[in-house]
Amino acid sequence: MLILSIETSCDETAVAVTRDGRTVLADEIFSQVNKHALYGGVVPEIASRSHVEVITELADSALQKAGAVRGELDAVAVTYAPGLIGALLAGVSFAKGAAFSLGVPLIPVHHIRGHVASNYIAFPELEPPFLCLIVSGGNSMIADVKGYTDIRVIGETRDDAAGECFDKVARALGLGYPGGKRIDELARGGDDAAYKLPRAAVEGRPYDMSFSGLKSAVINVLRSAARRGEAVDTRSLAASFSAAVSDALVPRVIGAARELGRDKIAIAGGVAANSRIRGDFVRAARADGRRLYMPPLSLCGDNAAMIGCQGYYEYLSGVRADMSLNAYAAMSIEKSDD
Ligand code: KG4
Repeated sequence: MLILSIETSCDETAVAVTRDGRTVLADEIFSQVNKHALYGGVVPEIASRSHVEVITELADSALQKAGAVRGELDAVAVTYAPGLIGALLAGVSFAKGAAFSLGVPLIPVHHIRGHVASNYIAFPELEPPFLCLIVSGGNSMIADVKGYTDIRVIGETRDDAAGECFDKVARALGLGYPGGKRIDELARGGDDAAYKLPRAAVEGRPYDMSFSGLKSAVINVLRSAARRGEAVDTRSLAASFSAAVSDALVPRVIGAARELGRDKIAIAGGVAANSRIRGDFVRAARADGRRLYMPPLSLCGDNAAMIGCQGYYEYLSGVRADMSLNAYAAMSIEKSDD
């Protein structure tokens, strides 16, 4: 089954062509990051306009790279939630037009379910059930993937997403946008015990996370050093911060896997590219005897191949949308269809 898939939930315009879910024939991405860097973060209006400007060309290019013609497509899958509403609408409108004109089914895909599916592309043998940590710029959660379309949230952030926290701390350190990757690079030469930063817990909800206190703690370190005229060891602050984020994630995921009896653990989302977090997961999973799945860095960030992959499984479970499909800024990953 050949699927054309569209992803426009934030600042990447992406179009892919996938066969039977896991075989990626083309995966085109146009990153708008340079347009937003000027403003220190994503400007929603610029994101929406930019998607509209490039999406047709990107879809043509994806088809060409896949060696496919429009008439061979069996379905169109599109991210319809969650994300920036105008950005999502650009993709949903394009997908509706494509599905209608080709006379093929339209499949709505939840963005975070797509992130989970990036692991199916990277690991052809991986099948549910498994536990998945999804950490991106807008979301942070631990999900029990019972089936391809049967997903339960075990824990989630109470405030900022992990990626949002990386980006805000990077801004405070003067590293610019997007900051996660820059903190990752800076942290490599630092001492992760140099600064004492908090590890928050949510009473009664062992698998929930909180990152806003950590962000404030880093900002306080910078402010009080500036007040006293002291220099900050930014490498060590970046390393201490990265260690604190990792400590908020890795033991929670291992603990949840133990409690639920899941022997397979996967990670996904932009923050899953972080070298400290990946290293800690490798050690913790090995020590606990669990199989670990970590997609390559190219599949951690937003892409359309993951939407095509999840779209295939949504299609098999009967999910379809008609021309009334809308986009939604927020939606639980547990919701199974529109
Ligand atoms: O999954 P993604 O590309 O987009 C969303 O769906 O949100 O995630 C983007 C987030 C940004 O906050 C970015 O700073 C963060 O992922 N990120 C990283 C790294 N690479 C990207 N955070 C920490 N370390 C990295 N190496």
